[in-house]
Amino acid sequence: MYVLKIKFNFAKMDQIIGKHIIRLQKVESTNNYANSQLKVNKLQDGSVFLAYEQSNGRGQTNNFWESEPGKNLTFSIVVFPYFIDIRRQFMLSKVVTLGIYKALFEYVDDLRIKWPNDIYVGNKKLGGILIENSIMNSLIKSSVIGIGININQTAFLSNAPNPVSLKILTNQQFDCEQVLSEILSGIDFYYSLLKDGEEEQIDKEFISVLYHLNEKHRYLADQEVFEGEIIGVNEIGQLLIKKETGEVLDFHFKEVEFLQ
Ligand code: BTN
Repeated sequence: MYVLKIKFNFAKMDQIIGKHIIRLQKVESTNNYANSQLKVNKLQDGSVFLAYEQSNGRGQTNNFWESEPGKNLTFSIVVFPYFIDIRRQFMLSKVVTLGIYKALFEYVDDLRIKWPNDIYVGNKKLGGILIENSIMNSLIKSSVIGIGININQTAFLSNAPNPVSLKILTNQQFDCEQVLSEILSGIDFYYSLLKDGEEEQIDKEFISVLYHLNEKHRYLADQEVFEGEIIGVNEIGQLLIKKETGEVLDFHFKEVEFLQ
């Protein structure tokens, strides 16, 4: 005899993120689709555009985001975070990555957030995020938060350097809808903390799960290789690395490369 365990995960009554989910069979990119819908329709705060297949999924710095149709999660969330000043836009990255972390940490060991907003397990990339903000009067008027998480794909064909999926890591098949609903609840949790002004708690949790935190590793910046320890992230989202000399350097995205 066996007991079938079914984990129910209904959206909370007051949940904003994911209350309204638009399911799409095939789009170029859910971020493109969400951006075009923003222009022509009045969208509900927290609307989610979920695609079974993307023909031209976009990654950071114009890379292609590989995802086999139906095997993974590829979706975009639209929010209207008018309460976030543009100088604090990295708070959104923190909220989103922490929400994903909260949803996935029970499934795999060694889950980390790799600055600025990758989801890592060990030295492999499980997911990535592409946030596109539109600004008005130095506040974020709307934000399209594109999320790709590798769930059941076992072979990756593109030249992405180090992809991994939940299935590769655990040898188990996952229910994408179940994982989606857990991720949306996780992001909703941190998004409402942010709305409530709980930035200190968010910062503390974000730092505590940072990849390579307080460990000695090699980095490349300005054509120089150096050894240092990540000690945190400042309020404008720059990565802080302490060199062996004690000097602390700050970096914007793409100004520093992680070497192993
Ligand atoms: C990265 O390069 O790490 C960011 C990847 C973001 C991929 C997701 S998949 C859903 C959404 N639509 C896109 O075209 N990109 C994002």
